[in-house]
Amino acid sequence: MTAPRWWSRAVFYQLYPRSFADSDGDGVGDLDGVTAHLDYLRSLGVDALWLNPVMVSPMVDHGYDVADPRDVDPLFGGMAALDRLIAAARAVDIKVTMDLVPNHTSSAHPWFQAALAAGPGSPERARYHFRDGRGPNGDLPPNNWTSVFGGPAWTRVSAADGRPGQWYLHLFDAAQPDLNWDNPEIAADLERTLRFWLDRGVAGFRIDVAHGMAKPADLPDMADRAAESDTAMLTSESNDPRFNNDGVHAIHRDIRTVLDDYPDAATVGEVWVFDNADFAKYLRPDELHLGFNFRLVRADFTAHAVREAIENSLAAAELADSPPTWTLSNHDVEREVSRYGDGAQGLSRARAMALVMLALPGAVFVYNGEELGLPNVDLPDDVLQDPVWERSGHTERGRDGCRVPLPWSGDTAPYGFSAAADTWLPMPAGWGPLTVDAQCTDPESTLSLFRRAIELRRGRTVLGRSVRWLPTAPDLLAFQCEDGLVCLLNAGSTTVDLPAGQVVLASGPLPGGRMPPATAAWLTYD
Ligand code: NOJ
Repeated sequence: MTAPRWWSRAVFYQLYPRSFADSDGDGVGDLDGVTAHLDYLRSLGVDALWLNPVMVSPMVDHGYDVADPRDVDPLFGGMAALDRLIAAARAVDIKVTMDLVPNHTSSAHPWFQAALAAGPGSPERARYHFRDGRGPNGDLPPNNWTSVFGGPAWTRVSAADGRPGQWYLHLFDAAQPDLNWDNPEIAADLERTLRFWLDRGVAGFRIDVAHGMAKPADLPDMADRAAESDTAMLTSESNDPRFNNDGVHAIHRDIRTVLDDYPDAATVGEVWVFDNADFAKYLRPDELHLGFNFRLVRADFTAHAVREAIENSLAAAELADSPPTWTLSNHDVEREVSRYGDGAQGLSRARAMALVMLALPGAVFVYNGEELGLPNVDLPDDVLQDPVWERSGHTERGRDGCRVPLPWSGDTAPYGFSAAADTWLPMPAGWGPLTVDAQCTDPESTLSLFRRAIELRRGRTVLGRSVRWLPTAPDLLAFQCEDGLVCLLNAGSTTVDLPAGQVVLASGPLPGGRMPPATAAWLTYD
């Protein structure tokens, strides 16, 4: 039997570079800020970083609008800062993976600018999805597709050569035109991009909208859907022509062919596909190494929902013959402390769920700030930056609330994040007790809980790919991993007795050896 590859059981730390640490005092986090805090990441015990996009970008969608896929934006310190980070991370045995955005470019990308200049029917326009509009003057969009960020998925450009202006497709913001993957130039360019970063020592990629890219040739209308399900991130419906088209698998096979030249590198796809058989297709041996599974993010804090999410994710992994992946949070969703009810209850539940997640076999993704128990922040209208706010006509506030910078020290904003008082998103009052400094010496803190759980996880020799469910009362959840560790969660409203066994870690106090609501514990048996 071959030894498991590093990614199959890694703890990845998702690092939103704008919000982690600012080294140059402009109020925005950067890569030298990450390098300066590698000791923190090392003491947290993570195996790898996933950096949200740092490529050159106008930052309309904070880097998911890439204008030059083979350079680092000066805002983050340029290429030299990335080289410094990769070298310093390697010295402490932390791998660096990057975000890759193959579905679309920025409208500032030279290709798109050339497409605008070249006009209808040109090879330049053939790199994107330009179409004539419907109706007498082409005034109506070519189909009824909606943007995930709200509003139509088409924007009209100015008339050229006396012809009515064409429309171009963008599944996200108008500043993120979708690439036409039927054009072989696109795959050739992506191969250059992959090799460019892999040759620089990057250990792999998180692939944005990995179920996007391929579009059906005739771009058929989509079925009418509830407004909410059009714009919500991390959702998908099986009959949605915008996503999960069969042609996407050939693209993943091409990507894998390149990755196979770098055997220590891995890909993890953002795949919003909830049918397990469809999801598993992305993880065939010649496609992605890992696929994000969003079931835990979507599960309510009930024993039933959490169990169902775990069972489903394990079943998908089994079907795909691939390591399961777990995540409670990311830069697109409300932070779990707030999802679970905010305040003391939200925090206790989030801590308990962290123990559930970190007990499970497979790869785990921790989103920066999760280890501090940060809640979402209610931001005033005038500071919101997420394009979702504008595109939804101010009906959806977007994702800024989970992207507020991390607090490092002190009692007032910006809590050691930056030398500038004005951070790119304002940091709230009252975060003093949540800072790294305040938590790192407190054995009861959320940070200490994460450190201990990750340390224990690293010491476990077998994680396998399955768990054994143990009988419990309906509001409890108990499973045993292949190495014998038992994880127990009390998702009910009453304190319960602990079963026999040695408690090696608990997410909260166990008064009198009993387990209060919203608590999880790890138990071992000699
Ligand atoms: C998914 C990313 O996670 C999200 O942040 C981004 O806005 C969209 N893809 C578009 O790239």
